[in-house]
Amino acid sequence: MTLRTFAGTTAVVTGAAHGIGRALALRLALAGSRVVVVDIRAEDAAAVVDELTAQGAPALAVACDVSSRADVAALGEQVAAWAPDGVQVLCNNAGVFTPRHAATATHEDWEWVLGVCLWGVIHGIEEFLPGMLESKRDCHILNTASMNGYLPSRHSTLYSTAKYGVVGLSETLRMELASTRVGVTLLNPAAVRTNISRAEEVRPERMTRSRQDPEDEAFADYGLSPALDPEQVADLALNAMSAGREAVFTDHVLKPLLEQRFARVLDAFVTLPSALPER
Ligand SMILES: NC(=O)c1ccc[n+]([C@@H]2O[C@H](COP(=O)([O-])OP(=O)(O)OC[C@H]3O[C@@H](n4cnc5c(N)ncnc54)[C@H](O)[C@@H]3O)[C@@H](O)[C@H]2O)c1
Repeated sequence: MTLRTFAGTTAVVTGAAHGIGRALALRLALAGSRVVVVDIRAEDAAAVVDELTAQGAPALAVACDVSSRADVAALGEQVAAWAPDGVQVLCNNAGVFTPRHAATATHEDWEWVLGVCLWGVIHGIEEFLPGMLESKRDCHILNTASMNGYLPSRHSTLYSTAKYGVVGLSETLRMELASTRVGVTLLNPAAVRTNISRAEEVRPERMTRSRQDPEDEAFADYGLSPALDPEQVADLALNAMSAGREAVFTDHVLKPLLEQRFARVLDAFVTLPSALPER
């Protein structure tokens, strides 16, 4: 089922204090949603809400670490009190990146990246999907993965592990929900001009033990160009959601890399012994 209009909906957007999440929040508000601005950076989330309310758009800021199930449960309670008609749009968008190789990553590095990028999405679904299914309204879930959900790249082991998970989760969830009123769209940005290279600033203290890979210093300056603005990505995402599309990609340049990857996957069939029956 496709959510045809955002007008009159309540939307929860995680990681909405900056970057793509902030742009999604602003665009959804413009399209008529009441927006819950969720972020671990409480003050910055409040600033986005000030911006929205100054424009006459109802909005609520909630401080929440999406990697914590308890935080997301508390988010659910605050949202239920603010929006008794429930949530119709859920954008599981919060994400962090840290440049690490598997060989040098600490356990805490893995926990942090998978906690935010993968468990954050799972927690959002656990908290809000039951209400969406019970409601009599069309609803939509947007999960932000990445091109790194299909393609490995330098230093992306932790991040790709999480994002490949988000791709698998979203494609399966869309199939499972096909006969319901809840749609699912996967957002796969390529480079976007955001704060993601400053993600270490919001790493919780309990997960701070991290070693530096030798190349990290150089990587700290990694260029994001050519990159899109978050607002362009948010427009693509809203269009894809209202068209009920399965996935949205943001950059044609990377299409040949995807073709190479799928060709590599299919090449693996060449090693099947010809004695095995074809079915
Ligand atoms: N920027 C890119 O080039 C790019 C490319 C592909 C995918 N993405 C994905 O887009 C999404 C948004 O990232 P962005 O580029 O806008 O980065 P960003 O850093 O500008 O925004 C991410 C937001 O998430 C918040 N956040 C971080 N940890 C959190 C936590 N534990 N709980 C709640 N909020 C948390 C941050 O405070 C920040 O406001 C992420 O899932 C990211 O992986 C980004």
